Amino acid sequence: MFSLRSGFLILTVTVPIALAANDTLFKIPILEAGEIYMKQVVNSRLMDILPSYMNLYSPLFYIQAIVLGVLGYFLYGIIFRPIDRIRVLGDVGYRPDGKFTKKEIARSVKKRRVVGEIPPVYPNGWFGVIESWKLKREPVYVSVLGEQLVVFRDEKGEAHILDAYCPHMGANLGVGGRVVGDCIECPFHGWKFRGYDGKCTEVPYSEKVPDFAKIKAWTSAELNGWVHIWYHAEGVEPTWKIPELKEITSGTWQFKGRTEHYINAHIEEIPENGADVAHLKQVHEPLMAAGTDLTKMWSKYFSWGQHIWQASWHQLPSPDEHVGCMTVDHDLKCFGFSLPFVKAHVTALQIGPGIVYLTIEGTPFKGAWLHYLTPVEPMVQKLVHNVYMHWSIPNIIAKFFMYTEAIQIERDMMIWNNKKFQAKPVFTRTKEDSLISKHRRWYSQFYSEHSPRLNFQKDTLDW
Ligand code: FES
Ligand SMILES: [Fe+2]
Repeated sequence: MFSLRSGFLILTVTVPIALAANDTLFKIPILEAGEIYMKQVVNSRLMDILPSYMNLYSPLFYIQAIVLGVLGYFLYGIIFRPIDRIRVLGDVGYRPDGKFTKKEIARSVKKRRVVGEIPPVYPNGWFGVIESWKLKREPVYVSVLGEQLVVFRDEKGEAHILDAYCPHMGANLGVGGRVVGDCIECPFHGWKFRGYDGKCTEVPYSEKVPDFAKIKAWTSAELNGWVHIWYHAEGVEPTWKIPELKEITSGTWQFKGRTEHYINAHIEEIPENGADVAHLKQVHEPLMAAGTDLTKMWSKYFSWGQHIWQASWHQLPSPDEHVGCMTVDHDLKCFGFSLPFVKAHVTALQIGPGIVYLTIEGTPFKGAWLHYLTPVEPMVQKLVHNVYMHWSIPNIIAKFFMYTEAIQIERDMMIWNNKKFQAKPVFTRTKEDSLISKHRRWYSQFYSEHSPRLNFQKDTLDW
């Protein structure tokens, strides 16, 4: 892609050549040559047929050119550039009250809310740590699952995850550390640690490296555009694999954009939404144009259109009992008529506690949504969606679908950010409520005896 740097490079090569050619071949100074050219253009018959606002001597011409240039730049962004929508805690999912900023409201809700009797805060399984394209030559410091980690690519390009703090004197390897071979070098005294096992291989000022000089190396896997970490409270090695999405790894489906949201809730609330078929009508029926504020979305101005959802959820049998499957049929009705191009059959596979691979069929816009949910703090979750579609589908179409999905998720966030985890829900004897019970039983397989719990201190209203 054409960038400022490549533009600068082209100019630095072509301008001296043009100058040299101009001076040596034609012996005409460059400014004079420009003037002669401009005179030729202005005196040509072309100028007679151009309208007055195209007059090169008029300042209006240059104002128009600038406005068109800026407009073109924005249009290019809208049509061709993949969406990258990032909403941090406080941007969405709270009711503003005029007196405080959204961030202040977010902070205060986070402190005063009733958390409820929540399950452990970090379930066992594979989680996304960083998207592959974000991990380049520089090591990256990441804080997830209550752990401080450094993620880096060795010189062969293989990704590794280690604890961030150096065992020598505690420097953070992710802030200033550098990659040397298959190791990361500490920025403080230069000790080197191997990526695949965390062993210290060199202390620059000592001939011997003590055996106990090592750092925790986490089990990791890079696939489908993500670097994943295996987290298990008892240190058990992976009991299942992340499935490869062949259309993505082969490049048939291309990356078309991403959204990133930070949610103030227990992790289980988010996947539970997949089995909560009753909320689809209540929260997701109104059109995207109705926005994310729950009190406004039922406005009669948008009642001419509705999203219609038919959904179900089940757990896959052994050996895939770690996978939950939600199926959804979606229809969009406007003035009572179905819009055929957005009619779709969606299959969402919940692969363990924090990954969902969702595929869409039945529309010309086939593709996959990857949902990556990773706990940042006990009650703060990072949710990243990546969308992949066939390379022939224009980015603006993918952008429209992603934007629609982001609005729907932000409606859920309004609920999640403000609710309590209801450990003992009052349920009816209906299929709708029984699916939520099933989902809770399914999700409980990801907690074990030593899974970390939240220490909530009622007296300080903080944790
Ligand atoms: S703190 Fe890392 S080498 Fe000293
Ligand atoms: Fe939802």
